[in-house]
Amino acid sequence: MDIKTLIVYYSRSGKSEIIAKDLQNRTGCDTDKIEYANKNKISFIGAGFEAAFRKKVKIKGAGHNPGDYERIIFVTPVWAGKISTPIRSYMSENKANIKSYSLIATCGGSEIAGAIKDAADIMQKEPAVSERYLSKQIDENTYDLAKFM
Ligand SMILES: Cc1cc2nc3c(=O)[nH]c(=O)nc-3n(C[C@H](O)[C@H](O)[C@H](O)COP(=O)(O)O)c2cc1C
Repeated sequence: MDIKTLIVYYSRSGKSEIIAKDLQNRTGCDTDKIEYANKNKISFIGAGFEAAFRKKVKIKGAGHNPGDYERIIFVTPVWAGKISTPIRSYMSENKANIKSYSLIATCGGSEIAGAIKDAADIMQKEPAVSERYLSKQIDENTYDLAKFM
């Protein structure tokens, strides 16, 4: 990959992690796995509530300085049509330090226009590239990462 890139991801149930790790393996990019600072796994209801109300939380796992990279690729599940809370929190905390970003959203079946708008509202700019991968595509290994290579 020509552009110095950092992959930043959160995954509640493993789908987004498959994408993030595959991309990491193919590109050799530095990668930060973001997690809740104070809990292991958030409940389905809790996640839906946080997403609906655009909550922010304490996070851990941001080991690299995004300001050292030309581009950040975020990988997040879609929650209630929006991005996940840990990635929302990371974006809010680091947006001033991020030059360019792309968005990969994994989801059960919906479109990701809402998640893209959500990210653009926080970051105050549109993602350079965005893509959606369905859980089914991830399970069947039929997703294509070409846009991000
Ligand atoms: C709280 C919650 C809300 C969700 N909302 C949506 C949604 O609005 N649209 C959709 O297509 N999938 C939705 N999903 C499904 C996830 O986006 C999908 O399973 C995703 O690939 C999970 O990624 P992960 O395994 O990395 O956590 C939701 C899942 C959770 C837990």
